Amino acid sequence: MTKPKILITRKIHSQVVDFLNEYCEVEMWSEEQTVMPRETLLKKVTDIEGLYCFISDTIDAELLDAAPQLKVVSNMAVGYNNIDVKACQARHITVTNTPGVLTDTTADLTFALLMATSRRLLEASDYLRKGKWQSWYPTQLTGQDISGATLGIFGMGRIGEALAKRANGFDMKILYHNRHRNEQAEKTLGAMYVSKEELLQEADFVCLLMPYSEETRNFIAKEELQLMKPSAILINTARGGIVNEEDLYDALIQKQIWAAGLDVFEKEPVRLNHPLLRLPNVVTLPHIGSASIATRLNMAKLAAENLVDAVTGKTPKHVVRP
Ligand code: DGY
Repeated sequence: MTKPKILITRKIHSQVVDFLNEYCEVEMWSEEQTVMPRETLLKKVTDIEGLYCFISDTIDAELLDAAPQLKVVSNMAVGYNNIDVKACQARHITVTNTPGVLTDTTADLTFALLMATSRRLLEASDYLRKGKWQSWYPTQLTGQDISGATLGIFGMGRIGEALAKRANGFDMKILYHNRHRNEQAEKTLGAMYVSKEELLQEADFVCLLMPYSEETRNFIAKEELQLMKPSAILINTARGGIVNEEDLYDALIQKQIWAAGLDVFEKEPVRLNHPLLRLPNVVTLPHIGSASIATRLNMAKLAAENLVDAVTGKTPKHVVRP
């Protein structure tokens, strides 16, 4: 029996490729660090049934039209804003993602950003390495306290809950805002549901953990930043487009807010001349929320299982239903 053809758009773990080879005829882009050029991608999808892709690939109507036999788009990520899900649905193409396996790793990184910004870790390390540490003095590199502070979470889903769990260990007060109330988080984590405005006004740390969509685009812009405390810190480990970067830059320069921790940007990879990269009170990371060795392997495996299920006529574990 002929196996269904699939394309993997980046080099992934060899044991995952071995698993896929059992069920599929696999073609894999051999580069690990370079994205497959669009032209090449468009040529390579013409006879595939499964596409194994990543947040760096744009899966739009043009690509789907070039792939008339496509049955499944399996994204190795929980977010899927790189995929035109409606266009896939219109063509009866299943879209899958990898929720769950990256929850704790992403919550860890979010908390790490919160700590790095509030206690000025990168600035302090630079200070030492640049020979500025001449003596100890009381106001030297002073930051904001974490213990006992108020954490505001936009998006109390899996990762939001995992972040709240960590915050409980630091005796933080937890506020959240969501499209729907999360009674479980209220009961078990002591999180309080508040309006968007209330959260912005009261939180010492505003953490963004919601999915990106047209609705959440520019969710944090000038008006929202003006509501935040001058001592508040904004942390974004969700998607760059949720924050208006120009407004954030202005708010930081005008000291409307104290600092920001960003793992994500509107356009990735971010340009070296991006204004936010110049500010000492902004900690910037190259989208590494889920980047632990174990988690990336688990994501790769889950994306492979989703794909195999779809091309062999089973219902995958994680189908995206917008
Ligand atoms: C995701 O899974 O959506 C992350 O942003 C990439 O790991």
